[in-house]
Amino acid sequence: MALSKRRVAIVGTGGIATSHARAVTALADRAELVAAVDVDVDRAKEFASKWGIPAVYPSLTELLAAGGVDLVQLCTPPSSHVPLAAECLAADVDVFVEKPPTLSLDELDTLLEAEQASSAKVVCVFQHRFGSGAVRLRQLLADGVLGRPLVALCNTVWFRDDAYFAVPWRGTFEVEGGGPTMGHGIHQYDLLLSVLGPWQKVTALAARQARPTQTEDVSMAMVTFENGAVASIVNSLVSPRQTSQLRFDCENATVELEHLYGYENSNWTVTPADGHAEIADAWSKELPDVASGHTAQLATIFDALDAGTPAPVTLTEARDTVELAAAIYASAFTDKPIHRGELTRGTPYARRMGGPGAPWA
Ligand SMILES: NC(=O)c1ccc[n+]([C@@H]2O[C@H](COP(=O)([O-])OP(=O)(O)OC[C@H]3O[C@@H](n4cnc5c(N)ncnc54)[C@H](O)[C@@H]3O)[C@@H](O)[C@H]2O)c1
Repeated sequence: MALSKRRVAIVGTGGIATSHARAVTALADRAELVAAVDVDVDRAKEFASKWGIPAVYPSLTELLAAGGVDLVQLCTPPSSHVPLAAECLAADVDVFVEKPPTLSLDELDTLLEAEQASSAKVVCVFQHRFGSGAVRLRQLLADGVLGRPLVALCNTVWFRDDAYFAVPWRGTFEVEGGGPTMGHGIHQYDLLLSVLGPWQKVTALAARQARPTQTEDVSMAMVTFENGAVASIVNSLVSPRQTSQLRFDCENATVELEHLYGYENSNWTVTPADGHAEIADAWSKELPDVASGHTAQLATIFDALDAGTPAPVTLTEARDTVELAAAIYASAFTDKPIHRGELTRGTPYARRMGGPGAPWA
């Protein structure tokens, strides 16, 4: 029996909402946009008219009261994610929350509790996990083809000028949650974690080099993983030649990704070690070319919902990534290594990414 189309509403019709509308439109056989919501109603109306969305509401509360929605795509600024996602859960409506899902680890645990009391689920936007290259890399590692992963590099070296921070919610721990560690590099190291698995320990530094922010504009971290791999992570907003890079040196091959805001198969290179030439074929054999992005993740969500399985990225899966963000700040601001599990509920860096305050505040 054909499944009925899922009725989707977009809440927050600013910049990233376009990627969400595009994703639903690309999956028009599985979903339809039924409502747009923004506290700026004129903006919501303009957005609705552009995407052919029939209903507009000034608040999530009014949308949920009207009913008839299966999935909310939450595209509002970070500090509103937890209260709005909790409202969706209370109404038993699934919610796809933009990154970062929460401002802190404690907030994430509070949202997990709200999820347990609901029949609905929170799904977190981490779209770079879903391109064909990332899927193939995880598969080849799981199958043992690449051997053990030994060393990884994860660089998100981007450029944002002072004007970028004029938007009121940017550059503060209270509203954005942090600087490039929380807002920009989080995509790359989320992908890193999806490949290497649970992290164990991090030693980090953070600096405010040039931007008029409360938060860092650069952070760097060295991370060890349960599987024995080691990685370095750089998150920067002061790098004029922008790029996003991942490099995995495994026993049998080096696998590299270089892109900016999203990748296709052509962004990946695989260099087999001597004696492992067959890995090039294993990489490219029947490889689909699904680009990373909201469409790829949304398709995976619909697959999971259809199958009745948890839709990725679950809040529990995202917890590892948010905990690493908190640990990077805790290590950088206290000048000590931080182990996974150390930032227990109610402790300063679990409560707030910036803890008691950045050293430069
Ligand atoms: N996944 C990605 O690649 C990616 C890229 C950019 C931004 N983001 C994330 O998307 C989110 C939004 O970013 P943006 O750049 O689109 O911001 P934006 O400022 O362009 O848009 C946010 C919109 O939300 C509206 N809004 C604020 N509070 C609201 C509320 N309570 N109810 C309804 N509407 C409300 C604002 O009026 C605004 O129109 C952020 O969490 C950001 O980190 C993700």
